[in-house]
Amino acid sequence: MVMNNDAPAEQAGWALEWITTRQNISPRRLVDPGPSEDQVKLMFRAAAAAPDHGEIRPWRFVLVPSDKRELLANVFAQALIERDENATAEQIEKAREKAFRAPFLALAIARLGSCEPNIDPLERMVSMGAAVQNFLLYAHSLGFGSGLTSGQALRSLPLRQLFQLSDGEQAVCCINVGTVAKRRPARLRPDGESFVSSL
Ligand SMILES: Cc1cc2nc3c(=O)[nH]c(=O)nc-3n(C[C@H](O)[C@H](O)[C@H](O)COP(=O)(O)O)c2cc1C
Repeated sequence: MVMNNDAPAEQAGWALEWITTRQNISPRRLVDPGPSEDQVKLMFRAAAAAPDHGEIRPWRFVLVPSDKRELLANVFAQALIERDENATAEQIEKAREKAFRAPFLALAIARLGSCEPNIDPLERMVSMGAAVQNFLLYAHSLGFGSGLTSGQALRSLPLRQLFQLSDGEQAVCCINVGTVAKRRPARLRPDGESFVSSL
């Protein structure tokens, strides 16, 4: 990266273009090929560059490779049945199917239990969000699409058991990555003036 006074405008323009062109892609539209192992390693290197007050790394990620998707599908089904004992076979199948969508899937987990130094959980969630965003932006720079998914199943006991979450941990979202099969028009982003004021 060029770090002299001639290049910044070009670099800054490129960075802004890259950041503002990331968009959430539904996992239904994320297909093979997914990222290689080496590319995934670099995505997590990007995640590790997130701001981290106290250097406590208040997050971790668990990969769900294709041969383990069935386990996640079972959890999605169990979580639905726990919430709604009258769930139809069709609804259960729809819940299961969500586990098989994008070629790359990982669960993002926030570590919100006691820690030393004791950083406020709100600050830890900021760090978690920054780690996820760094991951998404690097995936985007490689030409992949990405989408986040969440839902009530992430708070369910079967999911906590499958991912061996400890008491202070909370599953935040699934990160899905793959090749974009179909892209929707990008959403309109809010203008800075709508959320920035001055004292
Ligand atoms: C923690 C988190 C969880 C999310 N979960 C879902 C989800 O379950 N389903 C979904 O369609 N989008 C989900 N999203 C993605 C948002 O819907 C998406 O970011 C938003 O629509 C803005 O679109 P953009 O990312 O393209 O700017 C989630 C985003 C975050 C930050």
